[in-house]
Amino acid sequence: METGSARPKAGLIDWIGLRWFFLLLSSSIGQKFVMGVTGLLLCGFLVAHLAGNLLLFAGAKWFNDYAHKLHEQWEFLIVAETGLFVLFLAHIYLAFATTFGNAKAREEQYAVKQTKIKGRVIGANSWMFASGAVVLGFVLLHLTDLRLAADGINLRGFKYTDDAFGNTLMVLKNPISRAVYVIGSIVLGIHLSHGFASAFQSLGLNHPKYMPLIKIGGKVFAVVIAVGFASIALFAPEIWRGYVPVSH
Ligand code: HEM
Repeated sequence: METGSARPKAGLIDWIGLRWFFLLLSSSIGQKFVMGVTGLLLCGFLVAHLAGNLLLFAGAKWFNDYAHKLHEQWEFLIVAETGLFVLFLAHIYLAFATTFGNAKAREEQYAVKQTKIKGRVIGANSWMFASGAVVLGFVLLHLTDLRLAADGINLRGFKYTDDAFGNTLMVLKNPISRAVYVIGSIVLGIHLSHGFASAFQSLGLNHPKYMPLIKIGGKVFAVVIAVGFASIALFAPEIWRGYVPVSH
């Protein structure tokens, strides 16, 4: 099932010993495999990110201590953020490659679940692509809201201080931002509710005995992530309504 889209020329690729990786990416099964690996690693990030953000419920001291400790370990942060960036890029590139890359491969794609709407058949892959695109839009907005702002790049016109707790609440207090965070979290949940189990299938870990369990696990995971992030956006600014941001 060669798609031929990622065939590298000899040279640098051989020199750094990555030929195997590009060969893997030149087949649709290999592309799905790498997509599954990157997807599951991104799920790991979501768990860590949600756990950190739930400290917003504990209060300013907890959240700011956590943010401070994270930023103190700047060497770890550089590695983790670079890794995350590469994971996102690879996941997005492969979403395009597997959705638009090869018509024949698409006909044969493994996406089992299909939904009939007004006589047309929309594959699970199209839903994954659409929900993934919305999540990408949300993440880009979110990065300008809170990540770039931490580096002093303020593209959204909020008044940021060095109080991470106050900055986050200020963003979430804005009704439009809050709606975007809630919708973003729900669409992320929809993406994960199929994507989690689908990743296991792509990795070949789809034993008939365990697959029903993995599918249920995927749905539970999706609900926990969506409800977790959405509840922070909905309730944290209400709980800490009277909080006055401080500049240390
Ligand atoms: C209520 C929901 C959320 C809150 C309050 C929140 C908060 C934050 C904050 C404060 C940062 C900046 C961290 C720093 O300065 O080091 C950040 C970074 C980030 N967030 Fe979120 N986040 C939320 C949801 C999400 C979701 C759903 C995703 C992914 C789909 C996401 C992806 C990211 C990414 C990729 C970064 C950059 C990672 C980094 O550089 O550390 N966030 N978030």
